[in-house]
Amino acid sequence: MIGPLRAALLGHPVDHSLSPVLHGAAGAAVRVAVDYTLVDVLPGHFDEALAACRRDDRHCLNVTAPHKRSAWRACATRLTPAAERTGAVNTLWWADDGWAGDNTDVEGFAALLGAATPGHAVLVGAGGAARAVLDVLGARGVARVDVVNRRPERARELLEGVGRDPAHAHGLGDLATLQPSADLVVWALPPGAWSGEAAVDWRTCPPGCRVLHLAYGAPAATLLSAARAAGLVAEDGLVMLAAQGLAAFARWTGLRPPGAPVVAALREAVGGAPRAD
Ligand SMILES: NC(=O)c1ccc[n+]([C@@H]2O[C@H](COP(=O)([O-])OP(=O)(O)OC[C@H]3O[C@@H](n4cnc5c(N)ncnc54)[C@H](OP(=O)(O)O)[C@@H]3O)[C@@H](O)[C@H]2O)c1
Repeated sequence: MIGPLRAALLGHPVDHSLSPVLHGAAGAAVRVAVDYTLVDVLPGHFDEALAACRRDDRHCLNVTAPHKRSAWRACATRLTPAAERTGAVNTLWWADDGWAGDNTDVEGFAALLGAATPGHAVLVGAGGAARAVLDVLGARGVARVDVVNRRPERARELLEGVGRDPAHAHGLGDLATLQPSADLVVWALPPGAWSGEAAVDWRTCPPGCRVLHLAYGAPAATLLSAARAAGLVAEDGLVMLAAQGLAAFARWTGLRPPGAPVVAALREAVGGAPRAD
């Protein structure tokens, strides 16, 4: 064993996080001891939490909502291309003279999407994760992407930021009118955030439409079951979680652990067997 790798997740809330399981399994696979801690950081307190990590010699950090923009700012010029493009950072490391940052959600969503290139994608949500989704859909050359969001102006900003037509920004109420032509729906809202979630009629999506929920475990289960009951292919975000975490681990250590034991450890932690559909 080498290490320990001193790492932490900064976010609010963080008590539900599977990152300790993820990085524990990743470390075990390549014989690196991992000392991973969860740090609950209230909005407005990110910079002081970062300074405390530095003092504590904790130089390998993950960042989750609501701090990905603050993490991006903290890295100033030491950003990977993915972090620059998306304006969000979920992975930090100390690089001699300051914090450097990457957005490994991009690699994570690319792994979840697989080799597919949908013709018409509908993205539900315009928060931090939606930035990574939009980046990947753009790189894949997806012809049409509509973004629906509680505040359509945030969807518009997101589309404009990547040079897409802002006319494809909508309120959540427009989801029903977009579903019939969609061959991919990406659900990037925190589970339960939108009270209209349960009323979505998945039968209006065409056969073969794929539904990707970025969340996983019990909070994602109801929506995924409803989509499967309508005959759609529906998957949770566990593969994305594993892939973004493994990419972070590689940034920190230069080592890339195998994915299978990490996904298996995460599946066990959420108490669910993988589904073929
Ligand atoms: N699998 C993975 O590796 C992975 C990675 C990243 C994220 N995720 C998951 O993806 C989901 C989104 O994450 P995120 O970081 O993008 O979160 P976030 O930035 O907090 O998401 C904000 C989104 O939620 C919407 N929202 C908040 N409250 C709402 C309400 N009451 N009604 C309707 N919409 C509401 C916001 O709309 P407004 O813009 O109108 O406020 C915005 O679209 C989470 O479940 C997260 O766990 C998974």
